[in-house]
Formats: sequence, C-alpha cells, structure tokens
Amino acid sequence: MSVLIGRKIVVGVSGGIAAYKTAQLIRLLRLAGAQVRVVMTPAAEQFITPLTLQALSGEPVRQSLFDAAHEAAMGHIELARWADLILIAPASADCMARMSAGMADDLLTTICLASEVPIALAPAMNQGMWRNSATAYNVHTLAQRGIAIWGPAEGDQACGETGPGRMLEPEQLLQSVQQFFQGGRANGIRVLLTAGPTREPIDPVRFLSNRSSGKMGFALARAFSSEGAGVTLVSGPVALSTPAGVTRIDVETALEMEAAVMTRVTECDIFVGCAAVADYRPAVVAEQKIKKLAQKRAIELVRNPDILAAVAALPRPPFTVGFAAETERPEEYAQEKRKAKGVDMIAANLVAAAQGGFERDENALIVLWEGGRKALPMTDKQQLAQLLVTQVLIHYEATHSAEDC
Ligand code: C5P
Repeated sequence: MSVLIGRKIVVGVSGGIAAYKTAQLIRLLRLAGAQVRVVMTPAAEQFITPLTLQALSGEPVRQSLFDAAHEAAMGHIELARWADLILIAPASADCMARMSAGMADDLLTTICLASEVPIALAPAMNQGMWRNSATAYNVHTLAQRGIAIWGPAEGDQACGETGPGRMLEPEQLLQSVQQFFQGGRANGIRVLLTAGPTREPIDPVRFLSNRSSGKMGFALARAFSSEGAGVTLVSGPVALSTPAGVTRIDVETALEMEAAVMTRVTECDIFVGCAAVADYRPAVVAEQKIKKLAQKRAIELVRNPDILAAVAALPRPPFTVGFAAETERPEEYAQEKRKAKGVDMIAANLVAAAQGGFERDENALIVLWEGGRKALPMTDKQQLAQLLVTQVLIHYEATHSAEDC
C-alpha cells in the first residue's frame, strides 16, 4: 500500500523553468494517493499556467495572499496547518533568499513562515546562481532552521550551461516524499542513546536516584529504529521492554553508563543523551547495610562524570543531542547548557507538575541548535520522539553534507 494515501501536501511553485516538471510531480503525488494543494508565486505563472496545475491537482490553485474568495474558503493560515508537508518545487534562488530573510511578501512565503509542518525545498536555478556565495549562505541558513534541501542535481541546464542547479526529476522527488513519510530516512546511520535514571548505591540495599521513567529515551530508540537506524540503547533501571531491533545494554550507575557509552561511541554517528544521570554519587559505598544508630547522618557525595559533555568533547564527536529538564526558564537554561556542554542540539522541557516530563506519557519540547529553534507541541512521547528524530536527522544531514564539501 502506498505510504502517500491520504497525506496532505502543499506543493509550492516558484518562478523557474523547472516548473514544467512540477506538473508531472503533482500527477505522480496524486497517483500515489496524496492530496495536493498548489500554491504559486506570481513569477511561477510566467512558466506554467495555474489552470494546468489546477487540472492536475484537482483543487483550485492558490496564488494571492489577498484573494478574498480563497481566504473565505481556506485561509492561508488554515492551509499552513492543513499540510503534512510543504514541498517547494522548483525553489528559485529568489524564493530561498526571501525565506532565508524571514520575508512573507507573497502567499507561499507567508504560508512557510506561518507553518509548523516540515518544509522541503527542491532548488532549481542556473549553476552560477547556485554556486554564488549568497545562495550558499541562504541554503545553509534554511538547512540550519530545519528545512530539508532535496537536490539540486548536476547536468545540462535550460540556459545552455552545465553544472549543479537542475531540479531533481519528478520521480526522484516522489521518492524523497515517500521516504519522508515511510521512514528509512536513517538507513545506515548508527545511533547510541542513553535513557532512564542511574542508581548510585549508598550501601548494599539503598541508593540515590531520580524520577526518570526512561519513556522518552525508549520512544526515541523506537523512532530511530523505525527510520532504519542501527540503535544501541544504554539504559538505567527502568520497567520498559526493549523496542524491536534495538540493542540494549543495562547499567545501574553513572560510572557504568559512562563506560558503556565510551566503549561504543566511536562506532556511532549520532549520540543522544536522554538519561537522567545522577550528578553525584556517594563517595564511599558501605559494604554492609548501614544501621540506624545515629540521629543524624551525612553522606559525602562526589561529582559524577558528565557523559554527554565528554562525548561532545571527543576529537571526532558524533552529532550530539542532549536534554535539559528544567523547572523554570527552560529555553534560556537549555541554551546555556547546550553551549557549556558543546552539543549540537538540545531539547528543553519543563518538568513542573502540569507540563509533562518525568514519569508522564506526554511531553512538549523546545529544540535548540546554533542559530535556530523549533517548538514541538505537547503530545504523547512516541509521537514527540518521531518529531524530534525528524529534527535530529535534518540537522545531522546538514552538518554531514557540510563536512563532505
Ligand atoms: O546538566 P544536566 O544534567 O541538566 O544535563 C542534562 C543532559 O546531560 C542530558 O542530556 C543528560 O543525559 C546529560 N548528562 C550526562 N551525564 C551527566 C549529567 C547529564 O550525560 N552526568
């Protein structure tokens, strides 16, 4: 069965000769079962008629931000919310420049600015325009914001030149859309995660620990695995079963967790520190059960190693993702934490009573990276994990392709 059945896709068309290929793309998306609504920029109409795309999408084509009839039927904000994915094909240099600057000077860029759903761009332009450092900067900025960039391809161009800037073929774009919805986006990627609490023994029967249930870390392991990643999960003591296909290593203490991570970290591409690692452990663990003889008893504590920071400080670190559970000002404290620990991305959440977090099935996150943020709404932890995995993969791919250049 097609993964696109019932999927709602806004296809944005900006001004470029590759717009003629978008007609075929829309046809293929419809044949695969997707619902398509087309939004054109004024420049796109110079290359292909709205009537053609209306006939192929089976829906009225939206062109103007100030179209009273359309706004009455389905306003632009509603359209931004309606979509599961916004795909702009072709994405011209001008369209990407305006998006990069956060402009909303036509219907398409307004929808993109208003929308919370994933956005993918299929760039198409003359090779000189693609190579121009202004375009490179804009593409980098958009990728940093979590926008997926599909293509361009290299080859002969309509202008007679040869080089990078050709829009991907409709069949290739269909494949990218299918991959986006069906998973498999993490094929060949190795992910190492920590989850759950740690237990720091005081004596043979007592320990220090915290309220972490491990649910978020296990949901992330499941989400990465369903995307095709090879997943190793280093887990503190939790009452959860191992997600299918995930390799699980059980540990109790922070030192055991550190050892389990450090022996495996060189073989992973992405490291996610989701465990609530105890910051301190008793300096001395009593060999026998401590008797309640004294009225007062102090336990001397020593700092545990910071596993996430240690991974991020490696000479060749994987893409690192941390969590920041805060009871106040989550964004501010998480951003400080991200910088202090030197991690690529951090997911902040409030752990105050009504807000989700520890021991609950629901949570909401603010994901922060260098130069960008994305709020993920309150939802059940498995769905939230899926949304977070999308963000991690987009940014991992962006840093990865930057390293390849
Ligand atoms: O400093 P804080 O404990 O708030 O940082 C939380 C993040 O750091 C989480 O991603 C957690 O898994 C990680 N961490 C760690 N080792 C520690 C403490 C926290 O990996 N000792």
